[in-house]
Amino acid sequence: MSEATGVDVSRRGVLAGGAASVALTAVPVAEAQTAPAPAVATVPVSFEVNGQRRDLRLDTRTTLLDALREHLQLTGSKKGCDHGQCGACTVLVNGERINACLSLAVQHEGDKITTIEGLGTPDKLHPMQRAFVKHDGYQCGYCTPGQICSAVAVLGEIKRGVPSHVTTDLGARPRASNAEMRERMSGNICRCGAYSNIADAMADVAGGRA
Ligand code: FES
Ligand code: FES
Repeated sequence: MSEATGVDVSRRGVLAGGAASVALTAVPVAEAQTAPAPAVATVPVSFEVNGQRRDLRLDTRTTLLDALREHLQLTGSKKGCDHGQCGACTVLVNGERINACLSLAVQHEGDKITTIEGLGTPDKLHPMQRAFVKHDGYQCGYCTPGQICSAVAVLGEIKRGVPSHVTTDLGARPRASNAEMRERMSGNICRCGAYSNIADAMADVAGGRA
């Protein structure tokens, strides 16, 4: 008996009460198995992926990354964290880089999406892909598709004069310096630590040498 409340809160009483409430709320197994599954909301969505129109009907909760990987079998874009923290899923949407794991596929009606599969082919590599090979910009390669898509977009941003956190003169066009490229690539994590070689590859492309 609790002195403060006058209620019996003995250990046996609590256990007995818990068992009774479980018995009251538990759903019989047979009933749970026959209950109809809740309806999944699907909607049609059309976008262009690597120059090809794709029409899908998707659960509204499907991320762009899952649409690419699971529905279109474009597995070049990787799922590292699924939380916007690693950059392995980076793709280009209308020329801008995004984390495909943080974006719902249904938000991309009519968009032009480029994945690593659309940047170049083994016979005709994109200059950034060629530069990554030349400079050994990878080890295990898991982060590489995202790194390359991001690197392509970064050089585009610098060319368009988009400033970054380390741009000192906001009135001037940023240069493709090592500091600029490292800052802009900071959302792409490489657990193998190939950062220096990635920066070298980007410098090669920026300088028109790749
Ligand atoms: Fe998208 Fe890591 S998988 S940021
Ligand atoms: Fe292995 Fe970047 S090359 S994680």
